[in-house]
Amino acid sequence: MARNARAGVAFAWVVALVGVASVAACGDEPSVDPQPLPDAAVDRDDSPTFCADGKPTVAWPPGPYEIALESTLPPDLTWASPEGAVDIESYFEPCAPRSRLLVIRVGAPWCGTCLWHASHTQRLLSEPKLAERVVLLDLVLADEDNMPPTLATAARWRERIDAPGKVAIDAQYTFGPAVGSREVLPLYLYVDTRTMRLRTLDGDPSPQTFASKALGELAELDGEPRPAAIKPALYDGLLTENQWDLVREMKLVAAPPPDPTNAYGDLPAAAALGKKLFSDAQLSPSGTVSCATCHDAAKAFGDGLAQSVGLAKVDRNAPSIALASHARWQFWDGRADTLWMQALGPPENAKEMGSSRLFVAHQIEARYAAEYDAIFAAKYPRPDLSALPAEGKPGDATYDALPSETRDAITRVYVNVGKAIAAFERSIRVQPNALDRYAGGDTSALDDEERHGLSVFMRVGCAQCHWGPRLTNDAFHALRFATGRQDGAADRGRIDVLATLSAAEFVATSKWSDARASAKPLTFPSAPSMLGAFKTPTLRGVSRSAPYGHGGTLATLLDVSTHYGRRAELVPASQAAGVVEPWSPEFDGHAQGGITALLSILEADLP
Ligand code: HEC
Ligand code: HEC
Repeated sequence: MARNARAGVAFAWVVALVGVASVAACGDEPSVDPQPLPDAAVDRDDSPTFCADGKPTVAWPPGPYEIALESTLPPDLTWASPEGAVDIESYFEPCAPRSRLLVIRVGAPWCGTCLWHASHTQRLLSEPKLAERVVLLDLVLADEDNMPPTLATAARWRERIDAPGKVAIDAQYTFGPAVGSREVLPLYLYVDTRTMRLRTLDGDPSPQTFASKALGELAELDGEPRPAAIKPALYDGLLTENQWDLVREMKLVAAPPPDPTNAYGDLPAAAALGKKLFSDAQLSPSGTVSCATCHDAAKAFGDGLAQSVGLAKVDRNAPSIALASHARWQFWDGRADTLWMQALGPPENAKEMGSSRLFVAHQIEARYAAEYDAIFAAKYPRPDLSALPAEGKPGDATYDALPSETRDAITRVYVNVGKAIAAFERSIRVQPNALDRYAGGDTSALDDEERHGLSVFMRVGCAQCHWGPRLTNDAFHALRFATGRQDGAADRGRIDVLATLSAAEFVATSKWSDARASAKPLTFPSAPSMLGAFKTPTLRGVSRSAPYGHGGTLATLLDVSTHYGRRAELVPASQAAGVVEPWSPEFDGHAQGGITALLSILEADLP
């Protein structure tokens, strides 16, 4: 009975916290992390002890066990780590002279806010009392792509963390039940090691909020009054230290990372040829469709349509490709692992350009021979196509009947066309926008509504996924944006790509790659969480790339923020596959207004 009453109080507590957070979003006050809770909120003086005469009286505190605030954690929690199993039991120290605080931090390497915390662990523990009495256990939920984590993921995550501590994998999101959907990753859970009770939790705290909470808990455990809360230092009266660091890292980066799989990627002559090919409708036998049909420089290299139209209407929205050369994966479902592989899809797609590699090779011979030869002929002399049919691609009987050397020679021309187009795309630069000026230190670059929007963006957790210079993590998430499929079925997204990608003709590990050995492996474990998952798009250019989402079903930026604010509740199951991820944000109407204002300034204009 008594326990239930306690649980009731603890729950009221969470609600009160959330209430504080959303009121702050509505008022004129700058956003500040929720203050540490008042001492009186929960009576903790009844903490039992499990030590007598210097010896433990139990192997583990008695139940009932629950993964919930104010509850004793179950003894059977265990996670795999590169150094062997990590058991929660090993943290129980009933006879320690003073309680320590086990801080379990839950995050993932796809998550921008988590990256900040991982690489600022020393900063967070800089209070001597915390360095001495906090034991940190990092749990990693997923890998860089948001796939299930492996021991290798944990080992890489360990490298990121600038202080010693254990890192284990937790694909099950053990502490999800204690959190609900409101906290932003990384999640901090504070456990008393003498009782193994989960005392409190927090998401993405500022260094000051973290210190206040941890010092407050330790003081209570020592039977002392909680010290006064440390006020977070705010940049521009608005952003906590961790938030401001992430904003600074959003500054535009000019050049894309090198792509060793495309030896021509940074050759000006290849970019010049690629630029012509990009807008050449003659590469399509219809003479009507080029890449530029759907990727118009004036529309952030999108087309302004819900679903693109080539020779026929396709099922998805054309993303802005101005900065696609910086991305790890191409397409909403990541079914190409390089930019040149991506460029080899649309020409042979019946709905897009309806062309074929043999048709493209003939066009190169007829109209671009000199330019092509200047770049490629030294290594790949152009084949003689005179005796060959006008069109042909794998699957066509006449093409498949050609000798394999002939098919390879045709395909080589086609691949080089893809590499030239990729070289052009790699040469695209966009101008800095108002956010870049703000990130560079000009606080007047944003007006009040936009500043408010930026603070909401950081606080509700958009920067978990939209971070870095392109405001994307290049990972795959299920957020239930509605389908754009012509047949009305839900789009299954990433999950269908996982089983087939490694065998795809033009992947970076194929013989067409200029650096097969440097290519990342493409075999994946099964990952049911990838049902309905799509790549986080860049937000640079969203001011001009309406409509939005993989299906193009959200007409305006306000519609996008409404979708988020209501956690996709308006989208029926028939229109979207998968389960909304628990770390997707939820917020009120005022927050929504600010977010829309912020998104509206994210231009990606050409110089
Ligand atoms: C009929 C319209 C159409 C044509 C023509 C077209 N695209 Fe696209 N493009 C799209 C659509 C729609 C998508 C998203 C499709 C998907 O993810 O399944 C896309 C995706 C892309 C992407 C991936 C961007 C990202 O962020 O994932 C790149 C790069 C791209 N296209 C470049 C090109 C190039 C190069 C060509 C010409 C060889 C081309 N496109 C032709 C409509 C088109
Ligand atoms: C868990 C990762 C995640 C979080 C958190 C997140 N996003 Fe996204 N965002 C995505 C993904 C994935 C998509 C594409 C979804 C789809 O089409 O199915 C997307 C799409 C968008 C788009 C549409 C862009 C376009 O070109 O179509 C906008 C705008 C956007 N997000 C803004 C936000 C804002 C604002 C927030 C915070 C309220 C936010 N996102 C939080 C992952 C995330």
